Amino acid sequence: MSDRDFRLFSKLIESTCGIKMPDVKKNMLESRLRKRLRSLEIDSFRDYYDFLSSSEGERTEMIMMIDAVTTNKTDFFREPAHFVFLAEKVLPDLLGGIQSNRVNFWSAGCSSGEEPYTLAMVLSEYASNREHFNFSILATDICTDVLQKAYRGIYEEDRIAPISADLRKKYLLRSRDKSQGVVRLVPEVRSKITFRRLNFLDSSYRIEEKFQVIFCRNVLIYFDRATQERVLNNFCRHLAPGGHLFLGHSETINGLDVPLVQVNSTIYRKPE
Ligand SMILES: C[S@@+](CC[C@H](N)C(=O)[O-])C[C@H]1O[C@@H](n2cnc3c(N)ncnc32)[C@H](O)[C@@H]1O
Repeated sequence: MSDRDFRLFSKLIESTCGIKMPDVKKNMLESRLRKRLRSLEIDSFRDYYDFLSSSEGERTEMIMMIDAVTTNKTDFFREPAHFVFLAEKVLPDLLGGIQSNRVNFWSAGCSSGEEPYTLAMVLSEYASNREHFNFSILATDICTDVLQKAYRGIYEEDRIAPISADLRKKYLLRSRDKSQGVVRLVPEVRSKITFRRLNFLDSSYRIEEKFQVIFCRNVLIYFDRATQERVLNNFCRHLAPGGHLFLGHSETINGLDVPLVQVNSTIYRKPE
């Protein structure tokens, strides 16, 4: 990939999905896009770029290109302190004030589903001794590959190490054929989550409901400051007054013009 081609792709990627492509990522981008060239039998990056810029390419290939450039690293119970704070502080406070006892969550940038399923297990535990507590989770990502995996809710056994034995017993099913080495989330947990493709940069994304809690962790680090501010202000419009936003461990709203107050490390609240 020539430097000129790299600049074309980095501009296109940043304007389409916000992901920054500094020079140090050139090798990574080249190897990820080479797979797309091979599968389309296109010979050069410039031809691939021209195809993406055509109306057919935009319609048929843009999603595949975005799938190839996203980084989807995730885990069950990633940053576990967040789930403790949720169960011990956020939920009790919320349920004091909510009439209906129904709480809406959004896992924004959910990757292959480990984050929303962790939420669903934690919330199911919370619901098990609170008769009137009910919840739903919207889980969105821009990448269609990971969304398909998330929707199936099937994981290799080596992925479930962070889940306690007690929760595994309640919420995971082993396949009859043990040699497959996979588990699946139980239907009651899967039914709590709606998966959907959504690009944070798409100004027209339609979400009707307000959320009491939004998790958007380890996504904003890929964006520049102006994009972070724009995406965060959109989240604020979808947060109910008093609602909480959880960011990833290395993310902050410091220096951004966003109507949120910090309540704990990487946890923010929208004033009532
Ligand atoms: C590193 S993963 C984080 C997953 C999970 N939140 C966690 O913390 O474990 C970042 C996710 O953000 C998604 N993403 C990147 N840009 C996006 C955009 N513009 N709109 C929606 N999702 C995006 C990626 O596809 C990826 O799955």
